[in-house]
Amino acid sequence: MKKIVILISGGGSNLEAIAKACQTGNISASIELVISNQANVKGLERAKKFHLMSKVIEHQNFNSREEFDQALLEHILPIEPDLVVLAGFMRILSNEFTEAFNGKLINIHPSLLPDYPGLNTHKQAMENGDLMHGISVHFVNNELDGGPIIAQGALKIDPIESEAKLINRIHKIEHALYPKVISDIVKGYISLQGNEVKFETESYFGTNHMEFFNV
Ligand code: GRF
Repeated sequence: MKKIVILISGGGSNLEAIAKACQTGNISASIELVISNQANVKGLERAKKFHLMSKVIEHQNFNSREEFDQALLEHILPIEPDLVVLAGFMRILSNEFTEAFNGKLINIHPSLLPDYPGLNTHKQAMENGDLMHGISVHFVNNELDGGPIIAQGALKIDPIESEAKLINRIHKIEHALYPKVISDIVKGYISLQGNEVKFETESYFGTNHMEFFNV
């Protein structure tokens, strides 16, 4: 059985979507550990609901990013995970961490990258009057939200909808696409070769995969 580790900081709705997919067999892997850098977040309750092992490692207890990342590595490396999944993990990772999991570390970002790396993506898309918004799943490298893109999901922005409504619709896309990407990676249908994402023919995805969602 392939092994996954998931890092969270908050709500954990993506964690829940992934846990469900593991439970139903849509992802052929087991979640070995959930790590949160924040205590008392809903994501930890969700981990409990799915009987997942979880651990809180609070970044503010460390003097530097490197020391915090070292603590993460100490917990993750012994598991020898096939994949480390960032699911709303709100910390920038050091080069040492990203290099330790090169090709085995993925992130979901709520924008159509390369548009809007960083925070407040929904607000920026709305304020700029964008017609489309979406999400990107990508391999993580040393560049913030800049690693090779695996797949994107898009929706049409309704100019009069609230930001909360837009975030809710974005989440629906995330919950549909992230488990599918994870499933294909653990099956070996998607891999990172140098700086390029390689898709086997069996993959649901392919180069420049952009899916439109009517959510
Ligand atoms: C998601 O929108 C994800 O794209 C971003 O953080 C959010 C996490 O949501 N990186 P949740 O904690 O999975 O509910």
